[in-house]
Amino acid sequence: MTTVKPVKCLQHVALEACDIERSIAFYRDFLGMRVTERHQPGEVEAIPVELVFLRLSNNHHDLVLAHNPNKTYRPRTTEDDLAGSVFPHHFAYECEDRDAWLKMLDHAKTLGLEIVRGPVIHSPWDPRGDGSWGELESFYVLDPDGYKIELFCEMATIAKDGVFVTARGERIEQACVLEP
Ligand SMILES: [Fe+2]
Repeated sequence: MTTVKPVKCLQHVALEACDIERSIAFYRDFLGMRVTERHQPGEVEAIPVELVFLRLSNNHHDLVLAHNPNKTYRPRTTEDDLAGSVFPHHFAYECEDRDAWLKMLDHAKTLGLEIVRGPVIHSPWDPRGDGSWGELESFYVLDPDGYKIELFCEMATIAKDGVFVTARGERIEQACVLEP
């Protein structure tokens, strides 16, 4: 295993957007993101697309929206899941705690967003769980381009010996990482 590695996975993600105003409104109104900078295609010679940098934290950007004015976009369909180019399966926003997550669920409903999955407990160990993995609570919505966004809270952490530890601090002794 390498001894050289980055400190964070997916610090930001850059998504193509068919209609950039529609996407900005979604990320602002639902997720509370703010626009840091916005730039037109060709401002930098090597970048022929419009870019909008959004932040959720004090980072310059946590999300980038990219729009190519010379590209003919077509709406994503459910058939695209069975044939076509690779596409991000989903990406996730973490809520501070379960109360904050429940508030986000209410917020999504207030905005009239379709909850495409959940709310659900991803767990094969919790009796209320759906049998999937991570020991967290989630729900999923789609952004205006069909990117699936997960909102979750309370993901398990991994103890030094590889055992899963729930957000309530309980060790799940049967559950252990494949690679300690
Ligand atoms: Fe996920």
